[in-house]
Amino acid sequence: MYKQIGILTGGGDAPGLNAVIRAVVRTAIGEFGMKCIGIEDSFDGILGDPKVTKLTLKAVSGILPRGGTILGTRNRGSFCKIVDGKAIIPEMPVEEAIENLKKLEIEALIALGGEGTLAIAEKFHKHGFPVIGVPKTIDNDLAATELTFGFMTAIDIATEALDRLHTTAASHDRVMILEVMGRNTGWIALHAGLAGSADVIVIPEVPFSFDSVLDKIKQRDKAGSRFTNIVIAEGAVEVGEQPIYLDKEALRLGGVGSHLRRRIEAATGKESRCVVLGHLQRGGSPNAFDRMLGTNFGACAVRALANGQTGKMVALRAGEVTTVPLRDAVANLKTVPVDGQLVRTARDIGISFAAPNEAKL
Ligand code: F6P
Repeated sequence: MYKQIGILTGGGDAPGLNAVIRAVVRTAIGEFGMKCIGIEDSFDGILGDPKVTKLTLKAVSGILPRGGTILGTRNRGSFCKIVDGKAIIPEMPVEEAIENLKKLEIEALIALGGEGTLAIAEKFHKHGFPVIGVPKTIDNDLAATELTFGFMTAIDIATEALDRLHTTAASHDRVMILEVMGRNTGWIALHAGLAGSADVIVIPEVPFSFDSVLDKIKQRDKAGSRFTNIVIAEGAVEVGEQPIYLDKEALRLGGVGSHLRRRIEAATGKESRCVVLGHLQRGGSPNAFDRMLGTNFGACAVRALANGQTGKMVALRAGEVTTVPLRDAVANLKTVPVDGQLVRTARDIGISFAAPNEAKL
């Protein structure tokens, strides 16, 4: 049994991080008699002069409903590089980090994060250091788990935004566009679009045709609904085009909603407004589901370490938390299946995905 384990949070924050930290600490101390060390600011905290903090039961008391992470995080660590303007490559000095962990008497690590963080965690495993990953991201784009924590809260926030846009769209006969996060996947847009009654859902997995967007607006006008609500994922692309970036150098997506708004106004003469939901989707308190999932993930991660597992990620499968190899989680991005049930359901109830051949789908 390990005497002392470390825990860190990496990547963009997501609601539920503190729920996982609390569950890890309570399970480690209460169930297994292990000590817990919190590593600050993701992997940066174990490079150079380590930045760590002792996690006692008192230190995690009251943090369950709190947004953010008490440990701090980085989504571009000091060791990350952007290569060819296409990808963020972590050039992590794993040996140095492991040396530091040993000096701190940390015998195993629990890493909370998305694709980037878990890919680094896997390197620790390959270097023989025991590690368990916990899948976090509002984007829900991690393979090998049905859900990541943070996603459900982001959907709640996006759904509420759509509800609110609905009434103002209807009052003014406008086309309202909600741009949501999700990087290169459309999970948030799809789920919130269904829950928030969008008329058009635009996701990266279905390249959109501007004419199809116009068709839906015209169709609604004709039927007497002179307003339209569109939810668009930040990574959405028009057929034959590239994603739109707020900051291409830093690979920050954003702006596709405004781009669409301008063109809709010019083509239809209808007033259109775009709202970018941005980091409101990540900040603040986790909903009940993410508190529950985060707590279950945290406790299961400690149990997995205590049972001698390493190189694994806790994952939700058919409603149960289990463990899967970290390499399966980071091998591919989990994208929305375009012929899957939710897309079919959305189309069946009259939602358009603005595909070029949308009318026939
Ligand atoms: O991965 C989570 C996420 O919120 C994405 O949906 C979004 O593209 C990105 O992070 C934003 O990153 P930043 O916090 O650096 O603006």
